[in-house]
Amino acid sequence: MSWKQLWARKSLDRLLKEMEDDNRLHRALGPVALTSLGVGAIIGAGIFAMTGQVAAADAGPAIVISFVVAGIACAFAAFCYAEFAAMAPVAGSAYTYTYATLGELWAWIIGWDLVLEYAMSSAVVAAHWANYFNQFLKTLFGWQIPEVLLNDPFTLGKETGHSLAWGCNLPAMLIIALVTVVLVLGIRESAAMNTIMVLVKLGVVLFVIGVGWRFVNSANWTSVPVAQRLPTDTIDFLHVRPELKELVPDGAVHEMTTGAELLKAVPELARRLDERELVQLRKMPSEGEKWGLLGVLGFKHLLQPIDDRLRSPFCPYGLSGLMVGAALVFFSYIGFDSISTHSEEAKNPQRDVPIGILASLALCTVLYMAVAAVISGMEPYPDIDPEAAVATAFSRQAERTGSGYLRASAGLVATGALAGMTSVLLVTFLSQARIFLAMSRDGLLPPSIFAAIHSRFRTPHRSTILTGAVMCVVAGFTPIRILESMVNIGTLMAFVLVCASVLLLRVRRPDAHRPFRCPFVFLLAPAGILTNLVLMLFLPVNTWVRLALWLLLGIAMYLMYGRRNSVLGREMAKESS
Ligand code: ALA
Repeated sequence: MSWKQLWARKSLDRLLKEMEDDNRLHRALGPVALTSLGVGAIIGAGIFAMTGQVAAADAGPAIVISFVVAGIACAFAAFCYAEFAAMAPVAGSAYTYTYATLGELWAWIIGWDLVLEYAMSSAVVAAHWANYFNQFLKTLFGWQIPEVLLNDPFTLGKETGHSLAWGCNLPAMLIIALVTVVLVLGIRESAAMNTIMVLVKLGVVLFVIGVGWRFVNSANWTSVPVAQRLPTDTIDFLHVRPELKELVPDGAVHEMTTGAELLKAVPELARRLDERELVQLRKMPSEGEKWGLLGVLGFKHLLQPIDDRLRSPFCPYGLSGLMVGAALVFFSYIGFDSISTHSEEAKNPQRDVPIGILASLALCTVLYMAVAAVISGMEPYPDIDPEAAVATAFSRQAERTGSGYLRASAGLVATGALAGMTSVLLVTFLSQARIFLAMSRDGLLPPSIFAAIHSRFRTPHRSTILTGAVMCVVAGFTPIRILESMVNIGTLMAFVLVCASVLLLRVRRPDAHRPFRCPFVFLLAPAGILTNLVLMLFLPVNTWVRLALWLLLGIAMYLMYGRRNSVLGREMAKESS
């Protein structure tokens, strides 16, 4: 096998010719169905659960700006996706686009990377789904799922001061199993179910904005003292031992950036902690965690003055908090690109896919900003519930006012969130199977599993079942926070590569037929590369290390299977012999 194969590109003409082949998916989706698919994939755990987490621990009320920053990065990428999706409307999305521009090795890397965006994000959403399911049971029936059946062994371990404890996230596993069954049964059924769920969640989001707005206290945006600058890990750490938290007066935490500084300011803490805890707190958070990779690369000194200048009750965690917040809430936007994985099922892909991508992204950005403003306005940011922010804000308001109507709305919000997250699961799962399908058609994955289409249901059933089984285990047993950052960094990387590919193809094939052209591509595509890269740089060093390990594993798999079985590679070998 020749090393030339690693850089071999699939020509655009070949892609278009392949579209005419037989064993293709049904073309059943119009512009409304595609936009609904986009909204279905976008609005979910990000807005209903992570908004609270990020507002409380990372960005404060400035989370509204974090949403704008992440939305801008996505918008640049969305225009590039739209150009590509209209040019080559085949299943596979960023994977296929990269194959046509950067060659086989990069295509494989991006396909492998997309497993983070699609399959792994399903596991994250399922874990948040479980929290809302618990909230739903609590609000409506007063029941609670026991902690050991609601958390992964690592989180349970952390709560009890050990590295691991018995237990698993059972509701997360069950919802993934259910979604797998629905998807094996077919796109038509899932598209109808998806539309209903999209309508329910849009209704609930509008309800949250409309009703929540009346309970906003603008003092929560402007006058909450800058009390907590400690990043998530340290706050979590103090939460495990509430008696320790009481030792730390608000004023003392005011200027803290690291666990070491906290220990210096509150010496009593050192006396109360055992040796292991002491070591743990001293390490929190390292500069690398506060500034992400930028801190390690030495940009801290450049950024610190801006960070200090920005700090205010509205932006209590400064520039780093705002940007880390953007890199985290980026999760809420993941999914708009999944429309491009369904291009092959679109009735008129050249027109409808760009409409679907841009319309769903614009709609969601506006809704997110409004919800974030409402949530951070209803409660002081340190009090926002990191697990089920939206529903909890309503139930607390109900307790304060004694209003039965608000108590019922908390139940409604939890129901909407569950519907929202279920539709995210449906679409992201569907997209993952489509990407595997594209990769196996090219010989990079075993076609007997990943390209098999059920004769009656016309769905990639084996691939869906295999992905579902793996995701069940991941959702039940892995720590969700770590997975979240992995999903984000993986998706950001895919966006960077898609922007780069669109640019490259404009230079290499300026004449190719482009039904949708990204406007000002020589400005927008580099801006997309830059903004998405900056968001990646704000993610913690550990996340980068995990990404590197994940990619190395992927490259090893390519060398063992894909390189030997690639259709393009075999053709090249035949030609040269
Ligand atoms: N954007 C999707 C969500 O927020 C992944 O759940």
